[in-house]
Amino acid sequence: FGQEIRYFESCDSTQFIAHELAQEGAQDGTVVVAEEQLTGKGRMARPWDSKAYKGIWMSVITRPHLTPQQAPQMTLVAAVAITRAIEEVTGLTPQIKWPNDLLINEKKVTGILTELQADPDLIKSIILGIGINVNQSIDEFPEELMSIATSLKIELGKTINRAELIATTLKYLEEYTKLYEAHGFSPIKLLWESYSNTIGRRIRATMVNQTVEGLAIGITEEGMLELKQDDGTIFGVYSGDIEFRK
Ligand code: BTN
Repeated sequence: FGQEIRYFESCDSTQFIAHELAQEGAQDGTVVVAEEQLTGKGRMARPWDSKAYKGIWMSVITRPHLTPQQAPQMTLVAAVAITRAIEEVTGLTPQIKWPNDLLINEKKVTGILTELQADPDLIKSIILGIGINVNQSIDEFPEELMSIATSLKIELGKTINRAELIATTLKYLEEYTKLYEAHGFSPIKLLWESYSNTIGRRIRATMVNQTVEGLAIGITEEGMLELKQDDGTIFGVYSGDIEFRK
């Protein structure tokens, strides 16, 4: 990954640019990276705060041989890869909150936005949008994020080299995508579960049209989160937001 890198001082969203490049036929592993995003976007149409020079704001175009139903697995591949990269560069080990938030001390340090270009039965490309809070100090977050977000610098107490972290992230993204393509989801699932803070906890999952509560008991071969409800039935959460319950 990263043979082809498009670098921007400032842009609306690396995700928009990556979509255009993917449509024009960009190769597997093409990277779009920006110092600043003016309209960075998160999951569920939320804004993503993307201050200049403070974080890693990048989108990676991948072309895995998967069906659209398997797409959630790529999100989990990315979550594991970025966790490993942060661990290698900083010595800090983030925890993964399903499906793809990386937390340190229960605060969000990284978000991943997975978007598809696909026909009904064939994925053309998966755009992995990766936002890593690297060198913000606490007062550089908008007020509403101060209690829920953190950066690697805040947690480590020193500035981190973003270029090194980008290179290491791309290395692990490529390595784990290959592992996944060669050996299926099982090895990724094991890694994901070992970094997860979600399994074994009581969860409320909010989906588009329903809310379900239960004990998180694992993830399925498709990458869905399995909840055991109080009446014993198992519910698979395909996508949505979760919160921890007492
Ligand atoms: C989330 O947790 O809601 C996902 C956040 C994803 C943010 C990244 S930053 C690079 C890429 N471009 C965007 O506009 N969003 C993603």
